[in-house]
Amino acid sequence: MTALLAGTGLAKVFGPTPALVDASLRVDAGEIVAIMGPSGSGKSTLLHCLAGIVRPDAGRVEYDGRELSALPDAARSALRRGEFGFVFQFGQLVPELSCAENVALPLRLGGAGRRDAARRAADWLDRLEVGGAARQRPGEVSGGQAQRVAVARALVTGPRVVFADEPTGALDSLNGERVMDLFTAAARDGGAAVVLVTHEARVAAYADREVVVRDGATPDRAGVAP
Ligand SMILES: Nc1ncnc2c1ncn2[C@@H]1O[C@H](COP(=O)(O)OP(=O)(O)O)[C@@H](O)[C@H]1O
Ligand SMILES: [Mg+2]
Repeated sequence: MTALLAGTGLAKVFGPTPALVDASLRVDAGEIVAIMGPSGSGKSTLLHCLAGIVRPDAGRVEYDGRELSALPDAARSALRRGEFGFVFQFGQLVPELSCAENVALPLRLGGAGRRDAARRAADWLDRLEVGGAARQRPGEVSGGQAQRVAVARALVTGPRVVFADEPTGALDSLNGERVMDLFTAAARDGGAAVVLVTHEARVAAYADREVVVRDGATPDRAGVAP
C-alpha cells in the first residue's frame, strides 16, 4: 500500500550545520507516528520537510501520490492551507488576532463565512476548555492556553495530515491527555495521518509507531517499515 505521506532519504543543511542526513518516515491515513530523539537531532527539520515548509537538499516527499518538492510554491501553500494542520513547537499564533480569530483564520482562508468560522472556532476552543480565552490575544494568555489554542487551530479544518511539534510541551498531564485524545480522534474517526514530535514516553504511547531520529538520521529505517 502506498502511504498517504512518505519522506525518503531526506537531507538538509543549514549553513555549516547538517540538520538532516538521511531520514525517512511514512505515515498512512488514520495512523499516528511519534518522532522521538534527543534535542538537536533533526526532529523539527524532518517535520518541516514532510510538511513542505522546508525544502530538503536531498530526498523526496510524496503526499497522496504527488511529489511535494516538485510542486510550485503556490500549489504547496494551497495544499498546506487546505489539507494540513500544524501545531508548531513555539506556538506561532498571530499576535494581533484574538484566540478565537486565530482558530477561525484557517477556515476563513479556506473560504468559510465569518459566522460559520466563528461558530466552529468557538466550538473547538470549548472542546479544549479554553473558551474563556476567546477574546484575548495570545500574549495575554498562559503558555498552556496558547498551546491549546494552537491545537484547536490545527484541527478545526479537519485536516488530512496533522503535524505537531511537541504539542504537549507546555501542558500539565490532564491537558496533555485531552490534546492526545483529540489527535487520536482525528486519526481514528477523521482518518487523519498524525505526525507528532515528542520527548515524552506517555505521549508517544498514543502512537501506532515510533520513529527515532539520531544525528539527523532514522538509522533503523523504522520510518520506512510498514
Ligand atoms: N533554520 C535553521 N537555521 C540554522 N540551523 C538550524 C535551523 N533549524 C535547525 N537548525 C539546526 O539543525 C539541527 C537540528 O535542529 P532541529 O531539527 O530543530 O532539531 P530538534 O527538533 O530535534 O531539536 C540543530 O543543530 C539546529 O541548531
Ligand atoms: Mg524541535
